[in-house]
Amino acid sequence: MRFLITAGPTREHIDPVRYLSNGSSGKMGYALAEAARARGGEVTLVSGPVALAAPAGVSLQKVVSAADMHAACLEHFDTCDVFIAVAAVADYRPKLRSTEKSAKVKGPHSLELEPTVDILKDLGTRRRDGQCLIGFAAETSELDTKAPAKLAAKGCDWIVANDVSAPGIGMDANDNAVSLWNRSGLVTRLGPAPKADIARLILEQVFPV
Ligand code: CTP
Ligand code: CA
Repeated sequence: MRFLITAGPTREHIDPVRYLSNGSSGKMGYALAEAARARGGEVTLVSGPVALAAPAGVSLQKVVSAADMHAACLEHFDTCDVFIAVAAVADYRPKLRSTEKSAKVKGPHSLELEPTVDILKDLGTRRRDGQCLIGFAAETSELDTKAPAKLAAKGCDWIVANDVSAPGIGMDANDNAVSLWNRSGLVTRLGPAPKADIARLILEQVFPV
């Protein structure tokens, strides 16, 4: 089974030294890549900037921006069987990117932003029969309403919802607690547990042997 997995944050540069990003560590995406490899999968991991080593046996492609991540995913999407969108892709990027470091201005300053491409949603429109698409939903409230809504909006088969406001789990943490939804509704809740265990349990639910 061929897996394509996105992980980590993206960086949307304002100028060569400044960017918009988020606190994603990449740990959940890398854990899923390792778990998929451990089950005998062939894994391509498209990762934003993170401080993690490449998992053994996984093909790692490092990217910076949402646009780069989208382009890298398009290269591999046709040949994958499973796409898992774990990355915390920045939703906006500066409308203008300066090639030179811009000097600070006196007083308040505003930045015009434009939306980035929604990678999961776009690949959902390009899917072929037999492909399985799994999304993540990072929420701070009303998870049980927002997760199934995101599953429908993104055209995916499964969504893994995690509460990123709970202390010690989720973004940038070593542990996670998630709820797993498919098109029929809530399937199970997993954790709190180390991300490696959560990753293995997600794959066991989605692809029972
Ligand atoms: N995602 C993506 N490309 C984006 C934004 C999100 O591929 N530009 C993917 C994420 O990797 C995740 C899913 O979409 O699998 C949901 O991401 P999330 O940030 O929770 O939802 P959004 O649709 O971006 O909505 P919002 O941030 O407003 O809640
Ligand atoms: Ca988002």
